[in-house]
Amino acid sequence: MAQVASLISGIESLKDENTKHQIYQILDGIDAIHREALHRLVRLFKEGVLEQVITDPAINTLMSMYGLLPPENQDGQEAAELIPLTNLSYESQESLDLGGTGTVRPHWIPVPDEAEPTEGSAYLCDLDGKKILVIHQNKNDYAISNVCSEHEAAIEDGVLDQTLWHCPHGPACSYDIRNGKRLGGGLSLQCFPTKRDETTGKRMVGFGMPFEPKTPSF
Ligand code: FES
Repeated sequence: MAQVASLISGIESLKDENTKHQIYQILDGIDAIHREALHRLVRLFKEGVLEQVITDPAINTLMSMYGLLPPENQDGQEAAELIPLTNLSYESQESLDLGGTGTVRPHWIPVPDEAEPTEGSAYLCDLDGKKILVIHQNKNDYAISNVCSEHEAAIEDGVLDQTLWHCPHGPACSYDIRNGKRLGGGLSLQCFPTKRDETTGKRMVGFGMPFEPKTPSF
């Protein structure tokens, strides 16, 4: 997933607009074929088959990318959530409709200049029509939704405490900024990939692409 996201971001930095356009057209075509085929396939599943096959991580990710997870498996934190166009007010020319499929192409948006990081800092940014907290902690960048999925409340007045964001609306509300999980259970916060632009060093936030948590592996 990370490799695919990295390759896609490489396409965006191509200088040759014609080549870039052709690559995007190919991606659109592949996406349309996959979408149609997967929707037809899932319609053929007998009851319970979808729930069974999505226990496989790779299949789960694919179904998630095409919005085919059953409602009870959609907790707002899928690996590759596809964002309905109607929910977005674009700020980036890179956000393009994938042939009327109602999804957006993966793209990166730089954070505003004033949101440059210092250790332990958090900035509320308006990116791609979403309110996002961009956080720098322990030399890592994180981007989490400013809206609590559980209560649909803004959480920007919370407190950063190492890798936790303590929500301002109650003593028991804390989120792990590395993966968006709510301590003690409940709906997770939506998280977004981050990276540094290779040329400018600016912080970038990714949309329409898989998110992989920055948690240590043991
Ligand atoms: S407002 Fe929802 S967890 Fe705090």
